[in-house]
Amino acid sequence: MSRITAAITAIGGYVPEYVLTNEELSTMVDTNDEWIKSRTGISERRILKGEGKALSDICVEAVKQLLSKRGIGPEDIDLLIVGTVTSDYNFPSTSNVVCDKLGAKNAWGYDLSAACSGFIYALATGAQFIETGRYKKVVVVGADMMSSILDYTDRTTCVIFGDGGGAVLLEPDTEGYGVKDFILRADGSGRKYLCQPAGGSLKPASHETVDNKQHYVYQEGKAVFKFAVTNMADVSAEIMEKNKLTADDVTWLVPHQANLRIIDATAERMGLDKAKVMINIQKFGNTTAGTIPLLLWEWESKLRKGDNLILSAFGGGFTWGALYLKWAYNSN
Ligand code: UT7
Repeated sequence: MSRITAAITAIGGYVPEYVLTNEELSTMVDTNDEWIKSRTGISERRILKGEGKALSDICVEAVKQLLSKRGIGPEDIDLLIVGTVTSDYNFPSTSNVVCDKLGAKNAWGYDLSAACSGFIYALATGAQFIETGRYKKVVVVGADMMSSILDYTDRTTCVIFGDGGGAVLLEPDTEGYGVKDFILRADGSGRKYLCQPAGGSLKPASHETVDNKQHYVYQEGKAVFKFAVTNMADVSAEIMEKNKLTADDVTWLVPHQANLRIIDATAERMGLDKAKVMINIQKFGNTTAGTIPLLLWEWESKLRKGDNLILSAFGGGFTWGALYLKWAYNSN
């Protein structure tokens, strides 16, 4: 019998309606459009507004779209994994909330915390449940509501991130499509450069942590940039070598959208032409675990059965990795 692989058979995405432009940000903090564009490539990002809105609302919209495209119902889902660092609650998991809101009564699930690598980590993890033959329909979500943990008086972080995310459906395939390989890495010593300092068991919420703004994203941008640019490029080149892929064999690079300069360095290291690189950072900024599924969602109509995709990310943790995926369908 042929080996079972986990193929992506449908995709959904969601970005909130509200557009926060560089111009509007420059009325909030000491920044300007020229600085943000030249240092990051971002022009605008989306923000989820509204009383009672949370990460699960982004996930639900993305998954609903995916189910409708595939023509199946929420009760068909076996497992739903959410890669995120901005869960609705510390517990229960956002996966539980999403399954409840969707009516996915036969599913179980969990959240996976790997910051900007959250989607790749979750995709690799979800694929295992398909490859073993245990499940037939696994939904993998990558989404974040970064506006909920950003300090909009800190120009070094608030200009970078946005809200949004996407979801993919994994189903068994025996013709070799889907997740082919991945290389995942972690180095927890990087936590000092990029983290949310309080709100966990190390520093539970207190008046002091709130006064010290420790519930917001803390990032030493320059240090993170150095690690990101080297490691994302290295791991992307490594997965090509491991699978004997030349630049010609790679149809698309699907890179985490943290900074245009990191994306360019990764493509260059892989020997890829810029035309093969998916980029939407200018519109959505860095949506953390949301960036890669949002790219796949936007590019879906251009993707062809058999296309070789390299997904690649670097993020807080530190976490990083690359995943080789053979696209399984033509959408039109
Ligand atoms: O996605 C997860 C992983 N995260 C990343 O991959 C992010 C990696 N880091 C980066 O992308 C970049 O480091 C940033 C975009 C965050 C910052 O760019 P940079 O070129 O490294 O700038 P910098 O932090 O070295 O700051 C340069 C200058 C500083 O002023 P001085 O000290 O030179 O006078 C900053 O205070 O730019 C200043 N600055 C700003 N100016 C205008 C910092 N933020 C802003 C801003 N507007 N928003």
